[in-house]
Amino acid sequence: MATSTPRRPLSELRSQRWLAPDDMRSFAHRQRLQQMGLRREEFMGRPVIAIINTWSDLSPCHAHLRERADAVRRGILLAGGFPVELPAMSLGEVMVKPTTMIYRNFLAMEVEELLRSLPIDGAVLLGGCDKTTPGMLMGAISMDIPVIFCPAGPMLNDRHRGHSVGAGTHTRMFWDDYVAGAIDQPEWIRLEAKMTRSPGTCNTMGTASTMTAIAEAMGMTLPGASSIPAMDSNHPRMAAQCGARAVDMVWEDLKPSRILTRAAIDNGVVAYMALGGSTNAAIHLVAIAGRAGINLTLDQMARTATTVPVLANLFPSGDKLMEDFYYAGGLPALLAEVAPQLALDCLTVTGRTLGENIASASSTDAQVIRSLAEPVSALGALAVLRGNLCPDGAVIKPSAANPKFFRHRGRALVFDSNADMLARINQSDLDVDEDTVLILRNGGPIGAPGMPEWGNLPIPKKLLQAGVRDMLRVSDARMSGTHYGTCVLHVTPEAAVGGPLALVATGDIIELDLDAGSLNMMVSDDELARRRAAWQAPVHPYRRGYTRLYIEHVTQADKGCDLDFLLGNEPTPEPPIF
Ligand code: FES
Ligand code: MG
Repeated sequence: MATSTPRRPLSELRSQRWLAPDDMRSFAHRQRLQQMGLRREEFMGRPVIAIINTWSDLSPCHAHLRERADAVRRGILLAGGFPVELPAMSLGEVMVKPTTMIYRNFLAMEVEELLRSLPIDGAVLLGGCDKTTPGMLMGAISMDIPVIFCPAGPMLNDRHRGHSVGAGTHTRMFWDDYVAGAIDQPEWIRLEAKMTRSPGTCNTMGTASTMTAIAEAMGMTLPGASSIPAMDSNHPRMAAQCGARAVDMVWEDLKPSRILTRAAIDNGVVAYMALGGSTNAAIHLVAIAGRAGINLTLDQMARTATTVPVLANLFPSGDKLMEDFYYAGGLPALLAEVAPQLALDCLTVTGRTLGENIASASSTDAQVIRSLAEPVSALGALAVLRGNLCPDGAVIKPSAANPKFFRHRGRALVFDSNADMLARINQSDLDVDEDTVLILRNGGPIGAPGMPEWGNLPIPKKLLQAGVRDMLRVSDARMSGTHYGTCVLHVTPEAAVGGPLALVATGDIIELDLDAGSLNMMVSDDELARRRAAWQAPVHPYRRGYTRLYIEHVTQADKGCDLDFLLGNEPTPEPPIF
């Protein structure tokens, strides 16, 4: 803790506006707290710290957060704060349909408005499953009161037939083996029971660990917090420390706007690349930066990917799991390896700089956390493509793709929707071979809606049975960070708004050139103009409710898929209290 930081006077705390005045309204606020059995001295003159909890019975990754909130509460009380637990929307990645991505912005709004509408001085954000981290951070950044992020932590490792098994990554691998007949049904059912061994987020370098680690690199968590397994005793200890630290952060007025500078965001990008992080981060980071008033572009991130190789040997780029990463020193050790590329003077939630936080960190297992001299992959975690198929950009994760496709020409096989793809992909007469480029459209932010993780199109059954395990795939959808394969994602503008992806036809020749950063369809401009004239925008069935609001306001993938009216860092007025 930064002991030299002067303490703000009590009268400056937000909660004092609710609790301190000697008037009828404040009398009612105090009365209602006493109604819950609280004594005056438990809440008077203390920072009110919200524990924003994304626990739910349908969020396996957050199953332990209800009891973890108790640890946070302990820390808050010991440090002299008044803890209040506030539930927020729980985005359990696998259960929420059509996709949690629709609700990331909903959660961001909920966090922001919870913090604004209630007498809250600071907050501990409890979450970790994919969209939860960006959603909570985006809301907290927009509210801009002191907050600390407490990552849910990864689940325990599993092993199968002597090999590490990773959540997500091996689900698809085993499915492909099952479809191909290499796994029988009893084994398939055994795997169902053992692959996700404990509460906690995916143990691969999927979107969850990518985003919690980025949050840490940007200075929003305690040092090392994002790597602690959910079921390790260090986890509740870390949670308690988050509670204590949140109280001090209120006294120090250590707000996100003081932490999330341009340089801090860039540190997040460096971590993203060194981790071999999920392509989803390319959307979330743009959105997080946007809330802080910082313009982050795909090209800036892709440039960093060319100078920061993948050092974390984790699925899907490598072959280890988060527990191994933790034993090897966790994120601080990884950051120490790329320290020359980081802005070490960035302030963090500890009140100290990033450089101070990682000063004594080093990798204790060079197999898991590699050095710059011996990276897991020099191919990079992100590349941006442009061309007549994706004028505003598309992304690919070279480190999780097959280099044989990095220069590729193939015939397009186009699916108009995910339902169309599912209906046809396994037909025995499907006109497809391993050089075919599988294309899925109408999977974007508006088209799907919500840009689901459909971009890792399955390999057609007949090719799986022939031993094919990867193909070039192109879509305006996203892909799970736990997945691998040569998938061009986030094609922008998306088909549903008339992007050129809407115009490609089965049989067109598609050309990818990763070195040149290009993705094109070999179709003449005249022919494209003719197809455009005949194109009709799809009519979406969402005429009411949140999904309608989302569709009407969501930005494209290269802009972060935030809602346009939530962008920017213009202050919103505090609520009047009377
Ligand atoms: Fe929650 Fe992977 S499903 S982190
Ligand atoms: Mg995921």
